[in-house]
Amino acid sequence: MSATAYRTHRCGALSRAEVGRQVRLGGWVHRRRDLGGLVFVDLRDRDGLVQLSCNPAWSPAPVMERAAALGAETVVLVTGTVQLRPEPARDADLTSREVEVHVTGLEVVGPAQTPAIPVARKEKEELPAEELRLRHRVLDLRRPELQANMQLRHRLLQRARQVLTELEFLEIETPILTKPTPEGARDYLVPSRLHPQEFYALPQSPQIYKQLLMVAGYDRYFQIARCFRDEDLRADRQPEFTQIDLEASFVSPDDVQNVVEQVLLELWQEAGVQVDRPFPRLGYREALEQYGSDKPDLRFGLEIRDLSPLVGHDAASFVTEARAAGSRLRGIVVSGGGAFSRKEIDGLAALAKEAGAGGLIWARRAAGGWEGQGVKAAGSTLLERLGGSEGDLLLAVVGTDAVSSSALHAVRTALTRLPGVKRLTDHAFCWIVDFPLFETDADSGEHVPAHHPFTAPHPADLSQLKLDPGSCRALHYDAVYNGNELGSGSIRITDPAVQREIFSLLGLSEEDIRRRFGFLLDGLGAGAPPHGGFALGFDRIVMLLAGATSLRDVIAFPKTTAARALFEGAPAPVDPADLRALHLEAKP
Ligand code: AMO
Repeated sequence: MSATAYRTHRCGALSRAEVGRQVRLGGWVHRRRDLGGLVFVDLRDRDGLVQLSCNPAWSPAPVMERAAALGAETVVLVTGTVQLRPEPARDADLTSREVEVHVTGLEVVGPAQTPAIPVARKEKEELPAEELRLRHRVLDLRRPELQANMQLRHRLLQRARQVLTELEFLEIETPILTKPTPEGARDYLVPSRLHPQEFYALPQSPQIYKQLLMVAGYDRYFQIARCFRDEDLRADRQPEFTQIDLEASFVSPDDVQNVVEQVLLELWQEAGVQVDRPFPRLGYREALEQYGSDKPDLRFGLEIRDLSPLVGHDAASFVTEARAAGSRLRGIVVSGGGAFSRKEIDGLAALAKEAGAGGLIWARRAAGGWEGQGVKAAGSTLLERLGGSEGDLLLAVVGTDAVSSSALHAVRTALTRLPGVKRLTDHAFCWIVDFPLFETDADSGEHVPAHHPFTAPHPADLSQLKLDPGSCRALHYDAVYNGNELGSGSIRITDPAVQREIFSLLGLSEEDIRRRFGFLLDGLGAGAPPHGGFALGFDRIVMLLAGATSLRDVIAFPKTTAARALFEGAPAPVDPADLRALHLEAKP
């Protein structure tokens, strides 16, 4: 229902069907062209652009005068007749390409200052710097690309709601002013005015509440949940973001994955992509072994091979010595990679070094045999044993598994962007399963949860929990798409005794456990069904489906990487009186 008291149609919606009709439109002046007494205006609204034609033959003199003076981004109301264009527009921007409006009435209702950044751009014209665009976000949001992204976001959100509702999930909202929910980031805290020295935390996720809803018998919950995390930001991280969060009772990992696959299938379909399911499942260790990452991009083969068993006596001493010290030689054979330039190979080597490797061993198979720096390093024996075909390129790294994995993952990711590297498919989903329950904190050397502390240990590893926690697997699973983590979830701990044990393994005292998580333990003690769930990073999904490279292009008012909102100016200092009311004092 776009017709209102002001207008009959949206600009971008006009087509041949309206030819001959009198219409009223409202919109923004995208572009104006004056051609010897005629004025053409591209008028824009959220549906797109239509050309207005102002011509003394049908436009009264005051209309011609006003049209000739229109500045970019002014809001006008227009009356006119829809006519076929003499020649359909070649301008790809014009949504209503076949028709134009012969203007008989024109009124300026929203004068605009000269825009600080242009909304209309010439073909191939670069965007202004991002900081400038964020500072003038209202103008930036008018860009047709961002309008399309926000419309896609809306459609995806509705589709997610619809499919989860059909699957009998109830949409339930959980609090924003709450107790800390650990998800591995720092909390945003909100001071309480009524209770001096006490703070609410903004939720890092609705994790504990959704578990409590299962204990309370709601059986299947979902929420389009806003989450807040004070962490280092990147293109795919924002301090506040949206999850499609869900939880269900009496479920196995397969049951949850089945639901998530159905949601993803619908979302991809909404964006015009057919997806096959079930998605393949890959163990965490296998993923690291074969792809060097727990977020493997399976659009490409490029598997990592263990070359250690092929190493002969003629390998360079740094290789044989590292082998003797327990390190391995691992590498990727790129079919057709022999055609890469020296500059491209040097670029890959730089990435391997950046990721911690001492260097990148490389050799290419030419007509006369293997050649390149790697012949000496890897040794002819290894290369003979490797075999291969003409045009192959071997890229290898020697080091601990952690180093070779991260270096070869960096190399593999860069390879996927090089021309000529074979792609098996355009859309590759997978599940990563059998994650470890704990990781070792690099600074303190202590156990920290690999995800969150509510994840159930793998039943087969439960006996190891006290003896060797590091070897315990978790009933945790991640959904990965083309090398991106879309979301993660797990089956939860329902036995309060096991939950206590995990907390104490994480170094919490009995008092800490009571103070921070007493309410959860009380909940679990009140009769908890087996349950598990998942959370999809919704902004990330929109970004990938919109073909955008930053979350900022799919969030209406995003923050910068320094966590600032540039348009509205947040964070900002507050009045000392307001601080006093909160029992706080700002120290310079
Ligand atoms: P997790 O912390 O893995 O799991 O988050 C789930 C998904 O949310 C997205 N995400 C983010 N997106 C944008 N900016 C961020 N800063 C950000 N952080 C996370 C990612 C991620 O995969 N409670 C658990 C889920 C569960 O166990 O059910 C959780 O929040 O796409």
